[in-house]
Amino acid sequence: WSAPRFYHERVVDHYNNPRNVGAFDKNDTTVGTGLVGAPACGDVMKLQIKVDEETGKITDACFKTFGCGSAIASSSVATEWVKGKQMEEVLSIKNTEIAKHLSLPPVKLHCSMLAEDAIKAAVKDYEAKRGKSVSSTTDKA
Ligand code: FES
Ligand code: FES
Repeated sequence: WSAPRFYHERVVDHYNNPRNVGAFDKNDTTVGTGLVGAPACGDVMKLQIKVDEETGKITDACFKTFGCGSAIASSSVATEWVKGKQMEEVLSIKNTEIAKHLSLPPVKLHCSMLAEDAIKAAVKDYEAKRGKSVSSTTDKA
């Protein structure tokens, strides 16, 4: 793959050496799976988190993305950013932060949106599995 010149070197780096590519067992109760698609282009991203049940901390993350270089780079960054954080914390990761980090051009913003959506979907899936919601626990606290 030769990168078009308008791509920032970080995109190229994450595309060529994506971090945390892989899959966890989606039936594992400590795993949350977020599977999202971009209507604009049909690209699909699967992002998974592994959560410490005691602390609610994300101990590991991985992804598989069938999509463009920016989507792959965005998911790679997303897995790096969620690791070691609390589930509540990662819900506030914005696609614009990922896009900024990778200097994505405007036409590629939806690729980073995929990563934001995938993180949220993974947390939701984990919550649904455990039969509780992170947001409602914080509400009650
Ligand atoms: Fe990968 Fe910053 S370049 S997280
Ligand atoms: Fe659609 Fe990148 S072009 S996710």
